[in-house]
Amino acid sequence: MAKELALIGCGNMGTAMLKGIVGSGLVAAQDVTVADVSETSQQRLAGELGCQGTCDNSEAVAGAKSIIIAVKPQYLDGVVKAFAPSVDKDAVIISIAAGVSLERLEGLLGADHKIVRVMPNLAAMVGESMSALCPNDNVTEAEREGVHELFCAFGKAEFIPEHLMDAVVAVSGSAPAYVCLFIEAMADAAVIEGMPRAQAYAMAEQAVLGTAKYLQETGTHPAVLKDMVSSPAGTTIAAVAELERGGLRATVVDAMLACAERNRELA
Ligand SMILES: NC(=O)c1ccc[n+]([C@@H]2O[C@H](COP(=O)([O-])OP(=O)(O)OC[C@H]3O[C@@H](n4cnc5c(N)ncnc54)[C@H](OP(=O)(O)O)[C@@H]3O)[C@@H](O)[C@H]2O)c1
Repeated sequence: MAKELALIGCGNMGTAMLKGIVGSGLVAAQDVTVADVSETSQQRLAGELGCQGTCDNSEAVAGAKSIIIAVKPQYLDGVVKAFAPSVDKDAVIISIAAGVSLERLEGLLGADHKIVRVMPNLAAMVGESMSALCPNDNVTEAEREGVHELFCAFGKAEFIPEHLMDAVVAVSGSAPAYVCLFIEAMADAAVIEGMPRAQAYAMAEQAVLGTAKYLQETGTHPAVLKDMVSSPAGTTIAAVAELERGGLRATVVDAMLACAERNRELA
């Protein structure tokens, strides 16, 4: 078996992440083993990427330097307990399970293991994830860098202290849903003005993408960009004033605080 990286769970996230990691050349396909309870899922991913596949999680993790666990949170305990005896004591074990704390992972694997809790988001599927990384104290500086590199293969990644995980879910994990509401509302308005639906979505999506890219690439503060595009007595400031009257900012803040609170309740 190949031993650089093992992936447990070849579903949506596991597939997206591994495609990014292997596609970027960071880890060679022949050094990866994927495992899934479903023969079809592991064979599909192994076949597509040219890595090895198995339905035996213990076989996949045995001797692997890094292990990514990408199964649903409700299966995590059973899956980890079953393969834990086969994990190399120096392996870096990465869990992306939502709401599963480092403490819980240490309880399942042993507190002496190197464990990293990560929260990526759906945009991993298009190579634009935002991943929050939270290693335990056993992970060395070099290993932290290695994990950072893995998650940068399909987007951006930042280290955070674990108490900020609820904020991460609000600002990043759940964010695609609110951004979609905004895009949908913008497109609806264009449709009311007479624009065909498909064109309205294309324009609204590109406006959001382009604005985010501009902010990222130039480092411009959002308020500065807003001022730049709001001419005196112009069209943009008329829209901004209406959004302020509707309480857009306060609503977004309240929504995100509700999201973080719900994440705390579920933990
Ligand atoms: N989706 C997101 O946007 C997102 C964002 C951040 C974090 N996450 C986290 O990512 C994890 C995976 O989510 P997902 O959306 O990728 O779920 P998913 O598509 O259901 O993938 C999970 C995979 O694990 C497989 N599996 C189930 N039991 C297993 C076992 N005993 N051994 C090996 N594989 C097993 C499933 O196989 P079957 O389908 O045959 O059961 C499935 O292929 C979750 O913990 C979630 O919290 C997801």
